[in-house]
Amino acid sequence: MAGGSINLARVYTAYEGSDLPVLRDVSTSVEPGEFVVVGGPNGAGKTTLLESINGMLPITHGTATVCGLDVLSHGYAVRRRVGYVIQNFAFDPLAPFTVGHVVMMGRYGLLGYGRQPGEEDRRAAEEALHLLGIEDLEERSIGKLSGGQQQKVLIAQNLAKKPDILLLDEPFSNLDLCTRDFISEILTGTADAGCTIVMVSHAFDALPAREIRVLVMNDGRLTFDTRCPGEEVEERVRTHSGDPHA
Ligand SMILES: Nc1ncnc2c1ncn2[C@@H]1O[C@H](COP(=O)(O)OP(=O)(O)OP(=O)(O)O)[C@@H](O)[C@H]1O
Ligand SMILES: [Mg+2]
Repeated sequence: MAGGSINLARVYTAYEGSDLPVLRDVSTSVEPGEFVVVGGPNGAGKTTLLESINGMLPITHGTATVCGLDVLSHGYAVRRRVGYVIQNFAFDPLAPFTVGHVVMMGRYGLLGYGRQPGEEDRRAAEEALHLLGIEDLEERSIGKLSGGQQQKVLIAQNLAKKPDILLLDEPFSNLDLCTRDFISEILTGTADAGCTIVMVSHAFDALPAREIRVLVMNDGRLTFDTRCPGEEVEERVRTHSGDPHA
């Protein structure tokens, strides 16, 4: 986890089949090891921003450079170094994977085609299971866990990858209040170890007390950018988010 930088310069992103860009003229720089929270109303483009950073969506104008690599031409290399905990996940109850398999999947992109996990991969997966406190779930089927348990497994999967940048899209949405605090501590430790964190969230009660970089999106644009202690993030986001019902 070396800590990766993100540089977006006048980025526009459109979904396939649509002429209208969702992200519009987004420019920002994130330094290695920053802890960034992205807020803003539903539909503002937060998920689209994360998926533009890791090269999953077509950037139609502008440039995105992540870990020093151009996202459009080096998408695969970028995704090897970037973890992404997605917003809406659903596991088939009959999916034939144990928790142990799902966490190990975090290592597959690093292994290269056809290579089997080795000692280092097993150690990284075990560490991640331990950090999330889910060793006891290792042999359970992923599809038969609760939503919160599955959320922890996805976080463990991405930590097993030892990413330079960790993107998280509403990681607290399935979690009870104590578990939110627990995950928040883990993310703080991950940032302190040097990993850059970019977290989209509507839940601000469990943010670490440390300095947080706050980005607010409205209608596809980045409209506010500040730094403040964790306990002030909610107020800043609230003040600078437009009301989509107005
Ligand atoms: N696959 C898609 N195809 C076309 N348009 C999409 C697609 N996904 C999202 N959009 C549109 O892009 C805009 C931004 O969506 P996005 O998912 O980035 O919002 P968000 O800020 O993450 O919202 P939320 O807080 O509800 O998760 C919305 O207008 C949405 O309708
Ligand atoms: Mg979203």
